[in-house]
Amino acid sequence: MTRPAIPLAGVIGNPVGHSLSPGLHGHWLRRYGIRGHYVPLQVGEDDLAQVIRALPRMGFVGANVTIPHKRAVLDIADQASDRAILMGAANTLTFLEDGRILADNTDAHGFLANLRQEAPDWDPSRGPACVLGAGGAARAVIAALLEAGVPEVILTNRTRPKAEALRADLGTRVRVLDWVQAGNAVDEAETVVNTTSLGMEGQPELRVPLDGLRPGKLVTDIVYAPLRTRLLRVAEDEGCTTVDGLGMLLHQAVPGFERWFGKRPEVDREARDAVLK
Ligand code: ATR
Repeated sequence: MTRPAIPLAGVIGNPVGHSLSPGLHGHWLRRYGIRGHYVPLQVGEDDLAQVIRALPRMGFVGANVTIPHKRAVLDIADQASDRAILMGAANTLTFLEDGRILADNTDAHGFLANLRQEAPDWDPSRGPACVLGAGGAARAVIAALLEAGVPEVILTNRTRPKAEALRADLGTRVRVLDWVQAGNAVDEAETVVNTTSLGMEGQPELRVPLDGLRPGKLVTDIVYAPLRTRLLRVAEDEGCTTVDGLGMLLHQAVPGFERWFGKRPEVDREARDAVLK
């Protein structure tokens, strides 16, 4: 299969209408004058394998994958990166000219790249990190924090067995606390990350005790709607460094765009504005 003259890419999900990816990739394509297209693809579970295998023949060079297909695509791809295997999920597919489909997971990269860009003085080795929540996003966040060199991750989740399972997968530098002890985890940590859906529009607020937030701590939230969650507002009032969750979403898109369209895109104010429109 030769590279198509007008490369196509898209995001596969169900539903997919809410995805910010078409706005972001569309912005980058226009900004760099690249002749290509990026489209939302709403695909149900039963059609997933057939649609993915048909995409390269239609001129697609790759695709992002979102809920609920991030696990299932690992079985459809010919090869998965170590990171995708560790995550048990992929969010980026690349269709090679020899017909092979590669699956990768860029969520951990996105999380870390966002912190490095928005909080350049952040020193992960300064002390433990506290991770609130143990869902799919937490897995990427914990892997990223350990890779960045935090001495320990204190993990707390409403459903404790899910936290224990993550620790079993991700290693001994993860310590599990009960959800009722979340305030202690926040107090002990130098880096605090919310990976739960609490605080998102339409969801209840995150109500863990936050008196342990002190100046110098780094606090970030993977929720990006609203941008300034209650956690970030309280942290800012307490003098912490705060980073919102939109940057993670933008940065996780960078490796795919670069592979498919041959240009490493900037995550800057313009890119943020493009998805917030
Ligand atoms: P994602 O893949 O985005 O992480 P998820 O796998 O559905 O989404 O995980 C959502 C996280 O938010 C989980 O940690 C969940 O806690 P449980 O494992 O106990 O379900 C957490 N969460 C959602 N609603 C919550 C609530 N009302 N109180 C506490 N935690 C909540």
